[in-house]
Amino acid sequence: MTAVRVWDPLVRIFHWSLVAGFTANALFNDPEGKAHEVIGLFVLGLVAVRILWGFVGTRHARFADFPPSVPASLGQLGEMATGRKHIHKGHSPLGALMIYNLLATMIVIGATGYMMTTLAFFGVGWVEEAHEVAVSWAEFLVVAHIAAVFLESRRLGINLPKSMLTGYKHIP
Ligand code: HEM
Ligand code: HEM
Repeated sequence: MTAVRVWDPLVRIFHWSLVAGFTANALFNDPEGKAHEVIGLFVLGLVAVRILWGFVGTRHARFADFPPSVPASLGQLGEMATGRKHIHKGHSPLGALMIYNLLATMIVIGATGYMMTTLAFFGVGWVEEAHEVAVSWAEFLVVAHIAAVFLESRRLGINLPKSMLTGYKHIP
C-alpha cells in the first residue's frame, strides 16, 4: 500500500459541508422557512469558492487535473467491463463528469432559489418548476455518485470515502 495525499482540507471541508447543506435543504427543513434560504445561499457560496479553488488550488483540486473527457470516460467504462485497472490519483474521468454535473446543478438550484425571493421572480411558475426539477436531478445524481463511489472502491481496492475524510488514498 502506498499512501498518496490527494484531497486538501478545502476540498474535504467543501465536500462534507455541501453534503450537509444539500441534504438539509432537500430532505429536512421547511422550504418556506428562513433557514432554507440561508443554507441554500451557503451552498451556493461553497460552490463559488470551490470553482475558484479549481483554478488556484492544490494539484488534484484543479479543474486542469480532471478535464471533462468523453473518450477517457468511455475508456474507464471499458476498464470496468473488462476488469483492467488504471488507478487515478485524483478524480477519474467518470468522476469528473459527475462533479461538473453536480456543481452546475447546484448553481441552477441556488440561482432559481434566490430568484424566488426577489420581487421580479416571486411566484413565477417556471422558476419554481426549474428549482424543483433541478433538485430532483441533483438527488438522482447523488444516488448515482454514492453508488459509483462504492462500486469503484470495491473494483480498485481503495477506500474512496475514507480518502475524502483523511485526504489520503491508500493505493495497493
Ligand atoms: C442546496 C440548495 C437547495 C435545495 C436542495 C433546495 C430544495 C428545495 C425543495 C426540495 C423545495 C420544495 C419544492 C416543492 O415545493 O416541491 C424548495 C422550495 C423553495 N426553495 Fe429551495 N433549495 C435550495 C436552495 C434554495 C435557495 C438558495 C433559496 C433562496 C435563497 C431557496 C428558496 C426556495 C423557495 C422560496 C422555495 C419555495 C417555497 C414555497 O413553497 O413557498 N432554495 N427548495
Ligand atoms: C449530498 C450528497 C453528495 C454530494 C452533493 C456530493 C458531491 C461531490 C462533489 C461535488 C465532489 C467533488 C469534490 C471536489 O473535487 O471538490 C465529490 C467527490 C467525492 N464524493 Fe461526494 N457528494 C455527496 C455524497 C457523498 C457521500 C455520501 C460519499 C461517501 C460515501 C461521497 C464520496 C465522495 C468521494 C470519495 C469523492 C471523491 C471521488 C474521487 O475519488 O474522485 N460523496 N462529491
